[in-house]
Amino acid sequence: MTTQTSQAPILVIGKHGKTGVRVDRNLRALGFQTRAVSRSTEPEFDWYRPDSWNKALQGVERAYVTFQPDLAIPEAPQIMHDFVAAARSAGVKHLVLLSGRGEPGTEKAEAMVRNSGLTWNIVRASWFFQNFSESFLLDGILAGELILPKVATTEPFIDADDIADVVVAALTQPDLANQVIEISGAESITFQDCVQQIEAAVGYPIKFTEVPLDAYLDGMRQEGFEDDMVWLIEMLFSEVLDGRNAKPVNGLQHILGRSPATLDEYVSKTIATGVWSKEM
Ligand SMILES: NC(=O)c1ccc[n+]([C@@H]2O[C@H](COP(=O)([O-])OP(=O)(O)OC[C@H]3O[C@@H](n4cnc5c(N)ncnc54)[C@H](OP(=O)(O)O)[C@@H]3O)[C@@H](O)[C@H]2O)c1
Repeated sequence: MTTQTSQAPILVIGKHGKTGVRVDRNLRALGFQTRAVSRSTEPEFDWYRPDSWNKALQGVERAYVTFQPDLAIPEAPQIMHDFVAAARSAGVKHLVLLSGRGEPGTEKAEAMVRNSGLTWNIVRASWFFQNFSESFLLDGILAGELILPKVATTEPFIDADDIADVVVAALTQPDLANQVIEISGAESITFQDCVQQIEAAVGYPIKFTEVPLDAYLDGMRQEGFEDDMVWLIEMLFSEVLDGRNAKPVNGLQHILGRSPATLDEYVSKTIATGVWSKEM
């Protein structure tokens, strides 16, 4: 294993995101300079304002790329096409793109990076555990009632800390260049398994209800969610969670030489952060 060093800052798109914050922290701990960006940073970076991209890309040779809100949305391929062109013009040499496992909608956007002529990696990850603690499932946990569309499969949830370790390896180890890295947790489990384990740890009841997907989507519309968010949830719960991704893969073990975090380990360390605590 060789490690690539350079004084140029590594761009991290998604500074406050579930993986971006960890990738940024780990790179800096290893002595790399970073430039972590989002809409609320200076320089600012907004996927929907291409005029904000150039300042963030100046002097950068490597970039970790997380798209918003999801790489599977229909607009992503064109935006990624334009972003790759801007990155190439700015002198970027290597892009590491975060994607999802078994999401057909992401393939066109991934292809923009794979066919860019730059060094590339696509890191395809399964569902993140951190959706329960740093994303859209947190409110339901804290409210003691989580309602989700019913799925008839299991999912090998992965820890964002593990994703960050793989991304840092891809950014810094030239022998990993130009490959799709598919990663998941080692245990294929249900949403109910996750909620039960969290409930046992937090010490307050969490009612978990699964409803038909159509009823869930109707509820979202009634609550005023925008059409593209409703589309995204439908795609995730009908395609990504139809069973195609239920089997764990071992890309992480190959690269890091260790096992991914279990649900138990995720819950233990997350309890310690206080994020599920109801006390002010
Ligand atoms: N969650 C999963 O289970 C899962 C699984 C597989 C793949 N993925 C992929 O993961 C990617 C997201 O990565 P992540 O979960 O690490 O990030 P994340 O947690 O979703 O990132 C959230 C941050 O993105 C920034 N952001 C929002 N809109 C933006 C915009 N228009 N331009 C620039 N920044 C914006 C926000 O910061 P500001 O408010 O400061 O802008 C926000 O704090 C998606 O592309 C998704 O497809 C997710």
